[in-house]
Amino acid sequence: MSPTDTRFHVRPGGALQGKLRVPGDKSISHRSIMLGSLAEGITRVSGFLEGEDSLATLNAFRRMGVHIQGPEDGKVTIQGVGMHGLRGPGAALDLGNSGTSMRLLSGLLAGQGLDITLTGDDSLSSRPMRRVTDPLALMGARIETTEAGTAPLHIRPVESLQGIDYRLPVASAQVKSCVLLAGLYARGETCVTEPAPTRDHTERMLQGFGYELHKEGGRVCLQGGGKLVACDIDVPADISSAAFFLVGASIAPGSDLVLEHVGMNPTRDGVITILRLMGADIEVSNERDVGGEPVADLRVRYAPLKGIRIPEDQVPLAIDEFPALFVAAACAEGETVLTGAEELRVKESDRIQVMADGLRALGVDARPTPDGMVIQGGGLQGGEVDSHGDHRIAMSFAMAALCANGDIRINDCANVNTSFPDFVRLASGAGLSIEAAND
Ligand code: S3P
Repeated sequence: MSPTDTRFHVRPGGALQGKLRVPGDKSISHRSIMLGSLAEGITRVSGFLEGEDSLATLNAFRRMGVHIQGPEDGKVTIQGVGMHGLRGPGAALDLGNSGTSMRLLSGLLAGQGLDITLTGDDSLSSRPMRRVTDPLALMGARIETTEAGTAPLHIRPVESLQGIDYRLPVASAQVKSCVLLAGLYARGETCVTEPAPTRDHTERMLQGFGYELHKEGGRVCLQGGGKLVACDIDVPADISSAAFFLVGASIAPGSDLVLEHVGMNPTRDGVITILRLMGADIEVSNERDVGGEPVADLRVRYAPLKGIRIPEDQVPLAIDEFPALFVAAACAEGETVLTGAEELRVKESDRIQVMADGLRALGVDARPTPDGMVIQGGGLQGGEVDSHGDHRIAMSFAMAALCANGDIRINDCANVNTSFPDFVRLASGAGLSIEAAND
């Protein structure tokens, strides 16, 4: 734990009730700044996530000469500089904890003819970056990493990039987006084929900015050399943040909670599918389209959950929701088995190990495997856990108190601010007995 940090103290029991809107989608917020900055004209964003990760992207573009007003109450106005209007930031761009900023920016900046260094915090500096620098090198980019293939990334100017036809070795939207963004600056066509569907916000938003794409099955192609035309973006609430409340209400008897304006992109809704397979009571209503992204209101009521074998095809569709889903499994009856999720080991923390350690500290029989976990449900005891600076782990263990029989204390929670700055206020307003202390 760092010297000044935030700890959560959550008392057991209670229920979640009422109506709330969780903050804006992190993936869409990042992309709104990136494409808005490169567009011609003024892009107005509403519902922007004012979390540290998306603000890291916003500040990076300010440092590269883009005039951006806000965020103020979720509103951001970006004066696009056009495809070739960015300028070198002078010193390194610090992207904090944000993997999306680093991986997408490496592609977006690879063909700009600029000399730029990207750095991050300890967690980001230990995450694998060859998955982006390898395909970018095939396109002719020059990017240096550490010997371990990690940040800092030094992006060197090159004359030009060449389009590639790339098959992703892992199902990763960050890598897909990185290659497509580099492809905007490449000669000829750039195509990416993914082994399984991953979030498609980059593709949807490029089309929203008037850029032509061709999609067929798991393959998406674009021609370099086009331009982006500014547009307005209404960012839906983040289903990944809603997930903590979906799990919390499902495991706490007496809960009845409505989550408003939640992004329901079919490449992101695995958490709903998985919870329903476990027996959750989630009602979807008021389905609508907001700027090319599906949105709905979700009503979730307590329901007794049962353990399941999680279908592997749901893994990329729920990739950020497994910390919360592991808590649901611990509160369910019977065994839950997750396989095919080795990517969880290279997120903001090793989410398989860190969740297994935390669940065991709370008396749960949780057995980590190389690519998943086996959890025997039946409830949790109180105890103390460490989130290892991982926002989603901290929020998941906070919700675990709803089905625990003692207090849960969670260390190293400051990074909740990367994706959900208002978590403590919203969660306690809905009925969670949570207090945050800084020391
Ligand atoms: C993201 C993609 C996912 C996800 C991350 C955000 C994105 O990562 O875990 O939180 O915005 O593209 P991978 O694409 O590496 O799985």
